[in-house]
Amino acid sequence: MPSYRYKLLSNGDDDEQISTKPAVRRKKILFGIIAVAAAMYAVFSAARFLVRSSRLACHKPPGLHRNLSSLPDHFTLPSGDNIPSVALGVWQAGRGEVGNAVKTALKTGYRHIDGAWAYGNEAEVGQALKESGVPRDEVWLTSKLWNNFHAPEDVEPVLDDSLNKLGTDYLDLYIIHWPIAFKKDTSQYDPELTADPYPTWQKLEEMVEKGKVRNIGVSNFNIPRLENLTANPLKIKPAVNQVELNFWNPQPELLKWSNDNGIPLEAYSPLGGTGYVQKSLNVPQVKAIAAELGLTPAQVLISWQVQRGTIVLPKSVTPSRIEENFQIFELPEALFVKLERAAQSHPPQRVGNPSKQWGLPFDIFDDYP
Ligand SMILES: NC(=O)c1ccc[n+]([C@@H]2O[C@H](COP(=O)([O-])OP(=O)(O)OC[C@H]3O[C@@H](n4cnc5c(N)ncnc54)[C@H](OP(=O)(O)O)[C@@H]3O)[C@@H](O)[C@H]2O)c1
Repeated sequence: MPSYRYKLLSNGDDDEQISTKPAVRRKKILFGIIAVAAAMYAVFSAARFLVRSSRLACHKPPGLHRNLSSLPDHFTLPSGDNIPSVALGVWQAGRGEVGNAVKTALKTGYRHIDGAWAYGNEAEVGQALKESGVPRDEVWLTSKLWNNFHAPEDVEPVLDDSLNKLGTDYLDLYIIHWPIAFKKDTSQYDPELTADPYPTWQKLEEMVEKGKVRNIGVSNFNIPRLENLTANPLKIKPAVNQVELNFWNPQPELLKWSNDNGIPLEAYSPLGGTGYVQKSLNVPQVKAIAAELGLTPAQVLISWQVQRGTIVLPKSVTPSRIEENFQIFELPEALFVKLERAAQSHPPQRVGNPSKQWGLPFDIFDDYP
């Protein structure tokens, strides 16, 4: 008996031909549909590729950077949490512009916003986060405890205020903004509260236990201040120390101490802050490296910080710059060393220091206690 396959191929009797013709037609139609679908998919993919490439070309300078390796997109903190290595900083991102900056950043791929209660824009940041549609648990949110609230009883209410404004029930990171405490409702320095940050820290530990905060850290602490704090029987070690790090103030000793002691640094004002950004972008060594690699000077400076092992927090409210600052690459070793040497070859110059503005009888960054 001929097989079914044989029947389809055979030129046998009419009965057989009648029974196989519709099947052949069906098969042809099916092949046709598949071919059309495949062609449409190919055209669609090509169009999508072209659109994406042209979008990237807007903020990626042409050049050799396509051959550069990528840098880590996160660092792992002692808690086991992964903190994205590049954040959008939102200090001086004014009301009416910070929301768009946050939305642009989230669309670009940022998953880390570095904010603070004192920046006065947390409600708009929270609203933008909500409107972006990016789930809360995919974004790393940092806020900071301002100088007026170091008294243990003042910590939780101001943390709650940040949580309410941000529209969230937990922060990924809460930081003591400055190692300086002010007296309640004033901008007057409080010597006692400043001398011993441990009671404030214990309250922060309690906030972690309560689930309002996942990680706690410090900011603007120099080595003696860190040693002063960590000499206490801490339940939770500082997860990070957020400090100024840029071409003018690279702080290699603090970086080494931090690596040796497992307290990662976060680099604020990585471009030199508003006052020094143009000067930073015009440093001859930075420009030369940028030209050699086909990057922008800002990309070189931001890449350098991540390559040094620091979490980096560039601020911008300009969409093209927000996108530019997110494209970072590993600098070849020789160029990395060249930049590190250039940054250390001049006397360190801090771009921000409010000691005088706050009327302090000492410099915040001098050795202490
Ligand atoms: N813990 C602390 O005490 C502390 C202190 C300072 C800062 N921070 C944090 O660190 C973040 C960054 O520091 P920062 O704001 O002082 O300084 P920054 O990020 O070094 O510089 C920001 C300035 O650079 C401009 N800029 C950004 N990207 C640029 C690019 N690709 N090309 C040209 N110009 C560019 C910005 O302008 P546009 O915005 O107009 O684009 C802005 O004027 C802050 O937002 C804050 O989150 C923390």
